Amino acid sequence: MDKFLINGPCKIKGKVLISGSKNASLPILAATLLFDKPVIINNLPRVRDINTMLNLLKSLGSKIILSKDKKTAKIINKRNMKTYASYSLVKTMRGSILVLGPLVAKYYKSKTSLPGGCLIGARPVNFHLTALKKLGMRYKIKDGYILAKSNGKLKGSTIKFPKISVGATENSIIASCLAKGKTILKNCAIEPEIKDLTNFLNSAGAKIKWSGRTCKIIGVNSLNQTEYSIMADRIEAGTFCVAATLARGNLQINNLNPKIIRTELNLLKKIGAKIKIDTDKILIKGPDKIKSINNIKTKEFPGIPTDLQAQLMVLMCRADGKSSITERIFENRFMHVAELQRLGAKINIKNNKAYIDGNTKFIGAELMSSDLRASVALVLAAIVADGKSSINRIYHLDRGYEKIEEKLKKIGVKIKRVK
Ligand code: EPZ
Repeated sequence: MDKFLINGPCKIKGKVLISGSKNASLPILAATLLFDKPVIINNLPRVRDINTMLNLLKSLGSKIILSKDKKTAKIINKRNMKTYASYSLVKTMRGSILVLGPLVAKYYKSKTSLPGGCLIGARPVNFHLTALKKLGMRYKIKDGYILAKSNGKLKGSTIKFPKISVGATENSIIASCLAKGKTILKNCAIEPEIKDLTNFLNSAGAKIKWSGRTCKIIGVNSLNQTEYSIMADRIEAGTFCVAATLARGNLQINNLNPKIIRTELNLLKKIGAKIKIDTDKILIKGPDKIKSINNIKTKEFPGIPTDLQAQLMVLMCRADGKSSITERIFENRFMHVAELQRLGAKINIKNNKAYIDGNTKFIGAELMSSDLRASVALVLAAIVADGKSSINRIYHLDRGYEKIEEKLKKIGVKIKRVK
């Protein structure tokens, strides 16, 4: 298993090119199952989760032609696709549950493995199943699989999500595109990645309209051929902005619309970063002194994203006083804390709240990755730590960050990947 060797502390300076968003690519790739005609998707990130999703589509019968740089996929579905999404593929990437809605909407049946939990929580899919059932899907759970079918086309309905869920919102929007009649989804997640999904579907003739957290979809018979470019990854951009703030860096983050990380940038300004924005770039300079912020809370968009919580915790370890972070989205997303404590961090956890003493001097150590975002937090800590750190099991990182060591090397980080 690969690991990273990082020799800290590092000064970071230079330009970073942000890759396409993993969390916009996954629902958009799943939604290509609705199409009879070829679909071209540009700006895909070259990360493991995208390979997994492409392999899943291939296992269902899609023909996928990848460009040389693997950032463009042309997807051609067969007339009769398979509708079985195996556990072997779904277990490696929970986002595979997003094929359930399109398969039932298009082929009126599907045998899709339950994704199971992961390190950050139980990750149930009850909101997905309840919503799809309201659209006419019938299902039973057997041997860890969802055996689903519908009696012909799904039928439009009004659905109010009991809790805001990114995946359940995406599955329902995708399925409603081919349903008969109108669907109204209330209390939707409104992450930018979901807007990217609905822009993609509308570019192919879907009829989707938003007002606040309500999404209205008028079903159509079929979708047209289309070509679409995935939006930039706001979590990757946020991660590099935290890195600049943490390491007194001076970075230019390119090809991202700063509006989609406005909340994060406002928080980093409060912490002391100097930030200038342009239409598609961010100039960020880290402060000499990092201000501590009390009671940072992760929230659904447009709040502080849970996918940035671990990275912000590293920042607060180096702040000039006490701070706290409350994780409100997942029930167990503090795996990075034990690893940060091995680097010298002073953090106490009470339920879903972390209390952080600041002014930590990280000392390089041997570290273990756990989930995707916790792993990148360890990289950030190693960048400012005194001495050598090695970070094991970086396959977690490869799931969601495209060639991160190359991007980090380019801005001055002394990092090496060893097999
Ligand atoms: C998406 O996960 C993202 N994944 C996650 O990013 C992200 O952290 C999360 O949204 C929140 O923003 C992808 O987009 C592929 P949810 P998702 O449904 O859709 C509970 C990363 O690092 N819930 O909004 O699974 C759930 O347990 C990943 O890129 C139910 O109870 O998140 C959680 O506590 C990690 N029942 C909360 O809702 C359901 O049916 C929010 O989950 C669905 C969710």
